[in-house]
Amino acid sequence: MAKPKTQFVCQNCGTVHNRWAGKCDGCGEWNTIVEEDPMGGIGGGPGRAPKKGRAVALTTLSGETERAPRIHTGISELDRATGGGFVRGSAVLIGGDPGIGKSTLLMQAAAALSRRGHRIIYVSGEEAVAQVRLRAQRLDAANTEVLLAAETNVEDILATISEGKRPDLVIIDSIQTLWSDTADSAPGTVTQVRTGVQAMIRFAKQTGAAMVLVGHVTKEGQIAGPRVVEHMVDAVLYFEGDRGHHYRILRTVKNRFGPTDEIGVFEMSDKGLREVSNPSELFLGERNAKAPGAAVFAGMEGTRPVLVEVQALVAPTSLGTPRRAVVGWDSSRLSMILAVLEAHCGVRLGQHDVYLNVAGGYRISEPAADLAVASALVSSLAGLALPADCVYFGEISLSGAVRPVSQTAQRLKEAEKLGFAGAMLPAASAEVPKGTGGRWTEIDDLPDLVARIAGSSARLRQAPEDD
Ligand code: TYD
Ligand code: MG
Repeated sequence: MAKPKTQFVCQNCGTVHNRWAGKCDGCGEWNTIVEEDPMGGIGGGPGRAPKKGRAVALTTLSGETERAPRIHTGISELDRATGGGFVRGSAVLIGGDPGIGKSTLLMQAAAALSRRGHRIIYVSGEEAVAQVRLRAQRLDAANTEVLLAAETNVEDILATISEGKRPDLVIIDSIQTLWSDTADSAPGTVTQVRTGVQAMIRFAKQTGAAMVLVGHVTKEGQIAGPRVVEHMVDAVLYFEGDRGHHYRILRTVKNRFGPTDEIGVFEMSDKGLREVSNPSELFLGERNAKAPGAAVFAGMEGTRPVLVEVQALVAPTSLGTPRRAVVGWDSSRLSMILAVLEAHCGVRLGQHDVYLNVAGGYRISEPAADLAVASALVSSLAGLALPADCVYFGEISLSGAVRPVSQTAQRLKEAEKLGFAGAMLPAASAEVPKGTGGRWTEIDDLPDLVARIAGSSARLRQAPEDD
């Protein structure tokens, strides 16, 4: 079969299409498909003479292996997210929206490592040396031995970092600026980004240097996003946060050398990122406990408990189709909870707009937040504030039952530590600590919760046609 001369590659997910289309079948994104030359880059393409293979020695699964050697930054939130420091000979991808603070974080990490006597090379493809220096001054990193280069060509970068003593850590900021002579596509395309990343990973494996790659999350398809190289690297961290808020979360989504679902929490200040060792205090900082519609969710991020406020506003609508707006949570889960409230608890929401917000711009992914969301919704609709010293967690099923979730003891311990004396949690929860003095209320099902919050509040079951 004749090979097509060009191929069309989605810049978001890397799916290859035979012809151009407005929407990618692979990831559903629009306008992300770009024409690329299939020759060159990793995977090569036709036209190159097949090389005769060389047999490698087969081995067994058992045998002595050392623990992955790590270099610690001493920035404990960063070390926590990477699973105990950067692993030598591995490649880590740090993704995030432009301007979120990736370069800042890595400059601080570079300075910290350099102070510990490591040889660090920072390759900036986006900013000129002067700009990087300015940032370093602001971050109090200018007086360290971090080596700096402003370069984007893959071959030149490799030649630079191979010269002299082997570096302990190389930072490439960012992968989207990398371009190689061996790939014909335009800089920033999937082929170029993959070729560049592949070369950097090869360098890390060969020399034992740790490689940190920065990747911008891209909304438009013109340049390739970090997703297209996720499978190639050893660990993937995403740096998240809301522009309107100061704190940032470093979240592990893949880690071949440590746990995933860990987070590191930072706060952006005028002197760079500051570690936040107790995130719950930060998220609950600006709480107004007397207002209806706010419930504190006792969540978990990996091994770490995080308390955060869920806010709901339920207001009568004048629209034919009421609005459902969610920030920081899954909107289809909200629809599910609204449906369960209507079907099993007689709570009418069909004539109400529903707004749900997770305080501080935090994003919850746990289904355990169901109970807190339902409590906030009922509280707002009934116009009754929830007890200020109570936390909520539990998963709600379609039948209205409240299901136990994992790590009950840790959630309750964190709540107690922060002065919460009460909790509403699923009945039949395992590991509920006894005799700690906390008021732990076990909830069987959603009607039970609604009755406890709103009692016989008339506003709840008021049929809209009545008025
Ligand atoms: P940056 O690290 O350049 O983001 P990225 O590399 O992810 O694109 O961070 C840029 C933002 O951080 C910018 O809006 C300014 C802010 N910032 C501070 O608030 N304080 C600081 O000390 C620094 C260096 C940056
Ligand atoms: Mg940057």
